[in-house]
Amino acid sequence: MKNIDWKNLTFGYNETDFNVRAYFRNESWGELEITSSKTVNLHMAATALHYGQEAFEGMKAYMGQDGQVRLFRWQENAERFQRSADGIMMAPVPQELFYKAITTVIRLNKEYIPPYGSGASLYIRPLLIGSGAEVGVKPTTEYLFLVFVTPVGPYFKEGFKPVSMGLFRGADRAAPLGTGHLKVGGNYAASLRSLNKAQTEGLASIIYLDAIEKKYIDECGPANFFGIKNNTYITPKSPSILPSITNKSLITLATEMGLKTERRPVSIDELDSFDEVGACGTAAVISPIGKIIDLDTDDVYNYAVDGKPGPISIKLYNKLQAIQTGDAEDKFGWIETVNLDQ
Ligand SMILES: Cc1ncc(COP(=O)(O)O)c(C=O)c1O
Repeated sequence: MKNIDWKNLTFGYNETDFNVRAYFRNESWGELEITSSKTVNLHMAATALHYGQEAFEGMKAYMGQDGQVRLFRWQENAERFQRSADGIMMAPVPQELFYKAITTVIRLNKEYIPPYGSGASLYIRPLLIGSGAEVGVKPTTEYLFLVFVTPVGPYFKEGFKPVSMGLFRGADRAAPLGTGHLKVGGNYAASLRSLNKAQTEGLASIIYLDAIEKKYIDECGPANFFGIKNNTYITPKSPSILPSITNKSLITLATEMGLKTERRPVSIDELDSFDEVGACGTAAVISPIGKIIDLDTDDVYNYAVDGKPGPISIKLYNKLQAIQTGDAEDKFGWIETVNLDQ
């Protein structure tokens, strides 16, 4: 194992030894290649550079107390990656190639898998880009699929502690019939102004509102939104949010804990009725939201009691983390262990 200060890792790029790549050319996928190069040699007219033909995924490998390395619902990421590719007219990566790529790159960089109990994990970043040269606006015929890994700590520096977020109507991340439901780079470019606004206000993130009425909650930064009241887990239904695998899993766990669950439009008028609210996603699992500030009206909504996360958020967080690291039984068939010696 590498000599890294695992406990103080942030959510950032930390170099590893190898990455894997495959090209789609002449209508078919080539062999997976292993490289230690950190750069991509790309044609200057590649569609990824000009027209945003780019999709990615974000997932993690977790080291268990038993020394086993676990993947969490990787098939869901593989399917979402295919939907993202299809949504912007790129060649989708077959599931078998996706699986071979992620397991190979984990194995090659096994010394970078953070130890059990460090709070860190190995982040896996699959990427698909249009690498073929075009000048007119059209999908290209050549694609590069690449996967790298990097050990990461918590997404928000606060860790599992309540953060503050803002409502802001000055920029939209995605439109209802746009690409908000896909994990494509353009959505993230469109979110940077909001992120900058959040940071200048000292907030962790902006909570995006629906682009038409600016009344319904979409999601929060790179995470879905949920609220809890009346023993019910409530999360927004919207065509412009990324379907989060963490959120889908929390819905199952909430049901198992005896909560009711609802996926429906969530109006900002409802914000003062929630007992707990949070953001959920692979990076942070759950980031409890302690305070929401409406940056346009100055309304403030408070949730954290004594600066602590709410009891249901704590239970959900602990349960999901325990399944991911292998501390709790995997009743739902979400886990696959990776053979590191193959
Ligand atoms: C915009 C956006 N929403 C939600 C999520 C959370 O999704 P998941 O739980 O699958 O990581 C992410 C991160 O992938 C994201 O980028």
